[in-house]
Amino acid sequence: MKIEDIFQTYKECIMPTYNKVPFIFVKGKGSWLWDIKGKAYLDFFPGWGVGGLGHCHPKVMQGVRDQISKLIFIPNNYYHPFQAKLAKELITLSFPGKVFFANSGAEANEAAIKLARKFGASAKLCADGEPGRIISQGRYEVITFENAFHGRTMAALAATGQKKYQAGFEPIPEGFKQVKFNDLAAVKQAITGKTVAVMLELVQGEGGINIAEKDFVLGLRKICDQQNLLLIVDEVQTGFGRTGKMFAYQNYGIIPDVITLAKALAGGLPMGVMIAKKELSDILTPGMHASTFGGGPVVCRAALGVLKAMQKEKILHNCQNMGKYLSEKLTFLKNTCPVIKEIRGVGLMFGLELNIEGKQIVQEAANRGLLINCTHDHVLRLMPALNVTKKEIDKAISILKSVLKAYSA
Ligand SMILES: Cc1ncc(COP(=O)(O)O)c(C=O)c1O
Repeated sequence: MKIEDIFQTYKECIMPTYNKVPFIFVKGKGSWLWDIKGKAYLDFFPGWGVGGLGHCHPKVMQGVRDQISKLIFIPNNYYHPFQAKLAKELITLSFPGKVFFANSGAEANEAAIKLARKFGASAKLCADGEPGRIISQGRYEVITFENAFHGRTMAALAATGQKKYQAGFEPIPEGFKQVKFNDLAAVKQAITGKTVAVMLELVQGEGGINIAEKDFVLGLRKICDQQNLLLIVDEVQTGFGRTGKMFAYQNYGIIPDVITLAKALAGGLPMGVMIAKKELSDILTPGMHASTFGGGPVVCRAALGVLKAMQKEKILHNCQNMGKYLSEKLTFLKNTCPVIKEIRGVGLMFGLELNIEGKQIVQEAANRGLLINCTHDHVLRLMPALNVTKKEIDKAISILKSVLKAYSA
C-alpha cells in the first residue's frame, strides 16, 4: 500500500477513536523504531508502557516463534504447561495467591472489581475468619481516586471517575466513589457500610505521574485491614520493573490484597492478569468469570520470555541506574529551561510538568526523531524501555533540550 493510501484507508475504514500522529512505523528493536521510509526514531514512550524491554526483545520473539510452531490456542477448559509455569512465576514474584488471566489492563481491572463485589456479596468467604462467619455481606462500593485511570470498559471507566472519559456514556455503573489522591482523611470519610475496596495506582500514569506518598499507602493498608476492605493496586502501568522494583507496591513495604497487571507483561502481546491473595483466590468459581483468549499459550510464552530477560539482563538494576541518570539529566534540563515547572518520577517513569501545553512539544520532538507523550495537557511523559542505555538517554535529552529551549527564551 502507498503511504497516502494507508492514511486514506484509515479515514475510510477505521473508527477515529485515537488522536493519531502521521507516522507509519514498520520495524522496531529495543528503544528504536523505523518508519516506512526508513527513518529511525528514539522511542522514549514505547507502546504506552508496553515496551518495558523495548521493541521485539529476542527472548520474547524466541518463545513466541517456538510456540506458534506447536500450538497457538487452547481454550481455558483444558490445561497448558506454559500457563501453569507463568502463573507460578507471577505468584513467586508477588505474593501467595492465585492468578486470573485476561487480555488487557481494563479486563484485569474488571476482574478485580467483580472479585471485590463477590467478596462483598458473599456470606461465607473469609478463610482467615471463623468458618462461616459473615464478615462482608452486602458491600459493593469501591473507593478510587481523582485523576485515576483504570481503563475504558464500563466498570473500569466508572472506577476511573474522570468526567472527560465518562461524558456521553451515561449511565455510568454505580458503586464507585472518587476521593482526593494522597488524602487519607478523605478516604476515611468516604467509607460507609457499603464499601468493599479501595483501588488505586501507586503512580498515577495517565493522571500526570502523581506519586502516592508512603504514609498515605501505609495508612490505606491499615484502614483496609481494620475495616475488612480489599486493597486493590492497579499495576497495569507500574508493573514489571517500571518503578525500579518488580511491582510498585514493593517500594512501600505493603502487600495488597489484589493487583492487576498488563502492558509490559507480555512484551508487546495482549495480556492482562489479576492476582488475588490466598484468602480471596477461590471466590470466583467455575462459570463466574472467564476470558476466551486469556492466558493463551503464545502470550504466556511471550511473558515468560519477558521474565527470563528481566532476570538474565538485570533489568531492575539497569532501571534503577538509568532512572537516576535520567533524573539528573532532567533536573539539569529544568535548570536551563524555565518552561519546565516540575519534574516528578520514580524508576524510569517521569513526568515533566510544563507551564505551556505539551502537545506541540511532543510533535516537534517527534519531528526531530524522539517519541514521547503528553498527558493531562501539560505533562510530558517519558517512560523509556528499562534496558535503555546512557547513550540513548543523552540523545533524548539533547533533542528535548533543542525543542524546549525555543520555548524558554
Ligand atoms: C493504570 C492503568 N490501568 C488500566 C489501563 C487500561 O489498560 P488497557 O488499555 O490495556 O485496557 C491503563 C492504560 O493506560 C493504565 O495505565
